[in-house]
Amino acid sequence: MRTVEWHDSRVRMIDQRRLPHALVIVEYDDYRDVTAAIRDMVVRGAPAIGATGAFALALAAQQSAAARRDDLLADLRAAADVIRDARPTASNLAWAVDRLLRKADATPGDADALRATLLAEAQAIADADVAINRRMGANGAALVPDGATILHHCNTGALAAVDYGTALGVVRAAHEQGNNIRVLVDETRPRLQGAKLTAWELRELGVPQTVIADNAAGHFLHAGAVNLVLVGADRIAANGDTANKIGTYNLAVVAKENGVPFYVVAPTSTVDLACPSGAAIPIEERDAREVTHIGSEQVTPDGVAVANPAFDVTPARYITAIVTEQGVVYPPYEASLRRAVARAQHEFE
Ligand code: MRU
Repeated sequence: MRTVEWHDSRVRMIDQRRLPHALVIVEYDDYRDVTAAIRDMVVRGAPAIGATGAFALALAAQQSAAARRDDLLADLRAAADVIRDARPTASNLAWAVDRLLRKADATPGDADALRATLLAEAQAIADADVAINRRMGANGAALVPDGATILHHCNTGALAAVDYGTALGVVRAAHEQGNNIRVLVDETRPRLQGAKLTAWELRELGVPQTVIADNAAGHFLHAGAVNLVLVGADRIAANGDTANKIGTYNLAVVAKENGVPFYVVAPTSTVDLACPSGAAIPIEERDAREVTHIGSEQVTPDGVAVANPAFDVTPARYITAIVTEQGVVYPPYEASLRRAVARAQHEFE
């Protein structure tokens, strides 16, 4: 099944907190529970939470008792505020919710017509996400030399999107084309998305991999054992500065120091042209328990101060290129990202 989908008037998703030990499917019939699932990382990854947010708003429309169009629109705006707040850094969430609100405003008809339109639009976002990921896979695979060793951070696979994946979509496409690649998988503390989710996905796909502790990445980059770094993105500012899973910035700096290309793979829905630079990107601070504990075991002494930023910002000067569904985008990003977003708007809206 897809990472997230609409099924029988409910939102259904894979519970990513249970992987790799159990493949558990959960279903929600209240948009507030879908919002909690995003916040608690039942579903995670920027494109996946975008599609989930869209389904959550479609669900809010079904739940609303409003008989009049204006009353339904008011309920939708209130629900959208709740959903948008679930996770602040990934731009895809607000992007998807706002796209549905715009669609509702622009659609004539009564409340039931709006309900149907919103569900169709959420479904269109989910379907387009799969197609977009496949296109990014094809665009990015052209950058991967035969037999390359790829360093990868966090999880950017089918689980992080509706299906197929962003940076891991490139890995998948290269593998499907017969390229004899190998992936060095950063474990990605504190939540271990690399060790748990990426390693599980690559094993399912049959892609050769080696899981490493995050702090081993510099060693392998310096040793000349890595041909390229591939990461996803949660928000890309207009100048190309990119927020991604905490630890990405360290990788980019060490990659540049060692002359290793550093590629970001993300759909244009992750580009936020209203954000002039990385300084304007909100960074989510998550619960201290993610740092103090590994699984159920506490690893720190009681009472220590903890900081847990979930993302960091990599300045554009460290990024060799950004792979989008509209092609591979190179510096200067200010102009090239704007062109890619304009092409996408023309195509999808
Ligand atoms: O906190 P997460 O697991 O949602 O973070 C995910 C990432 O940082 C991914 O790299 C990002 O969403 C892009 S991948 C589809």
